[in-house]
Amino acid sequence: MDSMKVFLNGSFVAAEDAKISVLDRGFIFGDGIYEVVPVYSRVAFRLDEHLARLERSLAAIAIRNPYTAAQWRSHIYRLVDAQPFEDQAVYFQVTRGVAKRDHAFPKGNIEPTVFMMSNPLVMPPAAQVERGAAAVSAQDNRWLRCDIKSTSLLGNVLLRQVSAEAGAVETILFRDGKLTEASSSNVFIVKGGVIATPPKSNLILPGITYDVVLELAHADKLPIELREVTEAEVRGADEVWVSSSSKEVLAIVSLDGKPVGDGRPGRVFHRMHELYQDFKKRVMRAGKREPVSA
Ligand code: PDD
Repeated sequence: MDSMKVFLNGSFVAAEDAKISVLDRGFIFGDGIYEVVPVYSRVAFRLDEHLARLERSLAAIAIRNPYTAAQWRSHIYRLVDAQPFEDQAVYFQVTRGVAKRDHAFPKGNIEPTVFMMSNPLVMPPAAQVERGAAAVSAQDNRWLRCDIKSTSLLGNVLLRQVSAEAGAVETILFRDGKLTEASSSNVFIVKGGVIATPPKSNLILPGITYDVVLELAHADKLPIELREVTEAEVRGADEVWVSSSSKEVLAIVSLDGKPVGDGRPGRVFHRMHELYQDFKKRVMRAGKREPVSA
């Protein structure tokens, strides 16, 4: 089998030949930012929005964005075209670069390290979409800047491991009795036909899929509220969903071993799932690549 082609600091190389310095601040401190972009039929979905989120995250931690949007697009599509599969998950990260170990930022203009790879886009299996999935809950003990898509993911990793060990797909997080998000997705509830989800804040990642769910709900006139959601409301909800670039929208039918609603994906979920699949066919797969003149 050919080895996977990845991108490192401007070059396309085989994954096993991509090497970084042990002094890279991404390696030493987790001092970096990342993105995951779903690619349908070789077209990156909402690439401009992902690049805008990258820009915001980089600015929040004062790393210089090494590329213009046009350069990012050009590199990303070269990477996409180098893979033998159509639907992909492009991962890219920018770290502050290589410097002598010191917590403070290095002085002077050091070169950020840029790494990108693309793997097959793995969707939840059809049976799971149909029957729903299990989740467990935990206290959200991460830092207070969860809006920054940082590669420092130890908090998320440890929280995800709680559900992995319970044989569940996600860990739903509560902070001070309120829903925030899940370890790697956003969370929605439905009660009495009304969808509710926490508004964007420093406590959650502003998901690109979250925006799609809001847009689809508005266009279909499904009632949706952006507001604080209490832990009690989640536990008493008719439906709970998670959303992300790789999970799309997935129904959670058991939480901490107890059924959510009647223990099956609900009516509103079915509608949202249908809207999402239709949107994927009409818009995502039919998307045009932006011109890539860098
Ligand atoms: N995770 N919240 C968290 C903490 C996440 O890590 C993610 C995405 C989301 C959903 O964002 P989006 O809809 O833009 O994928 C919410 C990605 C997929 C990951 O870390 O692999």
